[in-house]
Amino acid sequence: MSQYHIKNLQEYLQVYKKSIDEPETFWAEIAEEQFIWHKKWNKVLSWDFTKPEVKWFEGAQLNITENCLDRHLITRANKTAIIFEPNHPNEKAQHITYAALYEQVCKMANVLKAKGVQKGDRVCIYLPMIPELTVAILACARIGAVHSVVFAGFSATALATRINDCNCKMMITSDGSFRGAKTLNLKQIVDDALVNCKDLETVLVVKRTGEEVQMEIERDFWLEELLNEASPICPAEIMAAEDPLFILYTSGSTGKPKGMLHTTAGYMVYTAYTFKNVFQYEENDVYWCTADVGWITGHSYIIYGPLCNGATSVMFEGVPSFPDYSRFWQIVEKHNVNQFYTAPTAIRALAKEGKNYVEVFKLKSLKVIGTVGEPINEEAWKWYNEYVGKHKCPVVDTWFQTETGGIMITPIPYVTPTKPTFATLPFIGVQLALMDDEGKEFKGNQVAGRLTIKFPWPSMARSIWGDHERYKNTYFSTFKNQYFTGDGALRDATGFYRITGRVDDIIIVSGHNLGTAPIEDAINEHEYIAESAVVGFPHEVKGNALYGFITLKETPPNFNLEALEKQINTLIATHIGPIAKLDKIQFTEGLPKTRSGKIMRRILRKIAENKIDELGDISTLLNPDCVDSIIENRLV
Ligand code: WT7
Repeated sequence: MSQYHIKNLQEYLQVYKKSIDEPETFWAEIAEEQFIWHKKWNKVLSWDFTKPEVKWFEGAQLNITENCLDRHLITRANKTAIIFEPNHPNEKAQHITYAALYEQVCKMANVLKAKGVQKGDRVCIYLPMIPELTVAILACARIGAVHSVVFAGFSATALATRINDCNCKMMITSDGSFRGAKTLNLKQIVDDALVNCKDLETVLVVKRTGEEVQMEIERDFWLEELLNEASPICPAEIMAAEDPLFILYTSGSTGKPKGMLHTTAGYMVYTAYTFKNVFQYEENDVYWCTADVGWITGHSYIIYGPLCNGATSVMFEGVPSFPDYSRFWQIVEKHNVNQFYTAPTAIRALAKEGKNYVEVFKLKSLKVIGTVGEPINEEAWKWYNEYVGKHKCPVVDTWFQTETGGIMITPIPYVTPTKPTFATLPFIGVQLALMDDEGKEFKGNQVAGRLTIKFPWPSMARSIWGDHERYKNTYFSTFKNQYFTGDGALRDATGFYRITGRVDDIIIVSGHNLGTAPIEDAINEHEYIAESAVVGFPHEVKGNALYGFITLKETPPNFNLEALEKQINTLIATHIGPIAKLDKIQFTEGLPKTRSGKIMRRILRKIAENKIDELGDISTLLNPDCVDSIIENRLV
């Protein structure tokens, strides 16, 4: 039996047990069998959650791109690595072979080097979903530069914060991006951001939309021209197992985003292993994950995981609604997609448009359909199973986080039975616990609590860039010797897990992880606004939407409610991005506070959810009086 490919429940149970009883032996065997190394490790794992410090495969030397590219040149040179499906269906899809991808990566790596990027330097990537995005990421990894991909929907301010936080030396962007019927001028956003980023030296620009852009002399260069002159040979930089591979920002409960730092060897081993099993990927399958590479799902399950397995991975530039709501299914049939992986919010949005768009497609090629990013409600799960999976494809509800690097809780299709709304069982090597508020573990089944992880896994983030203390406080201080996920979960009678949602000040809107603090900070920039509190409330398509409770310093002159609401959402769009706009805004005289002055979001959350009989005890508030009028004027 190969431990690398789990094929039935008994194997899962056996391998899981081994991964817990002898984690070092287990992971060493996987690492040894499946990857190429310049030098093997001296020690498989050392860890201390109190510091916290975690090291996997210490002493080993490798380059992840040799595992994603070079080694496939022998057997898979002409196999397609990436199928690029452009935004517009009339534009021809591109099939990029492993040999071609290898050459493009080497060329781009040489361009980065020629522009002065060295091992350890940070490179910001702000690109649409085009092949150059994959090439840029791998080019960084090739030369040991640390990539920091920023989702191309973030605003100039959000981009600047991320560039400065990790001192990026270079930016790789494009003139613009196609999104359905719209085009976005990305270069303009970059120019606006760079006004506040003095340390960034070079901007490489991919030509995609052809629109006119400003090019600053000696700073901005068209990538194509540089690539034309670059050598197609670039030896891989030899990296230590724990050398940084990338930084990826995620929202925190306080204003500043957290630059989660991922390192090389453990991340590679775990993402490749999970990819193989969670999607039961077989050699000639075509796999498609609809996420944006700007999120962890894209890093791990569009790029590194699939390429490490020599897979064919679809990269789609567009949106599910363009030219109409059948686009996803057109693409599945066009490329004979076998594994399809998307987000609950996309499923709900498509379900809302009716079954007509999907029913006419047989979708015969599909074997596995997956979801990720937020809890999937039963209705959406069933719709997905019926209309997309046609009752013959297991639905894999995969739970993970930017911080965990790879999938942590998931059914293994054709191995684990599925159950609507349940992510089911921990993946191999993952040791979960459910905790009560006092820090005691709930043992046994039919319990609910806070979800923690008791033992290190190879792809966990090692730190927050530039702020290890915050890493410790956020993840390792709530429960002693455990990683705290920030999520609540329950375990049913059979031991299956269901993720119930965040238990902190993070709200998942359309699968995007948003902290309340940065949104409130943006709102409070308004000169007439005193204070604000943002909470989530259930939304049919987005999962959660945002409700803002706002107090004014004074009534603005020529007061106009609509105009003020618009100004608030514009502030949010410029500071964070349009995704964080408020669906509901309620102006109020005061916000409920504890005696120590902390806003009681719990109460506001209940009001936003219209569950006013569940407010609990409000008598200990500093200002219980304000609650009545908030309730009376609530927006439902
Ligand atoms: C948060 C992490 C994982 C990649 C995309 C999001 C929520 C994620 C599920 C799921 C219920 C889920 C959690 C988690 N989440 N997957 N299958 N069921 N909730 O990454 O932006 O770091 O967000 O997304 O609340 O903590 P992220």
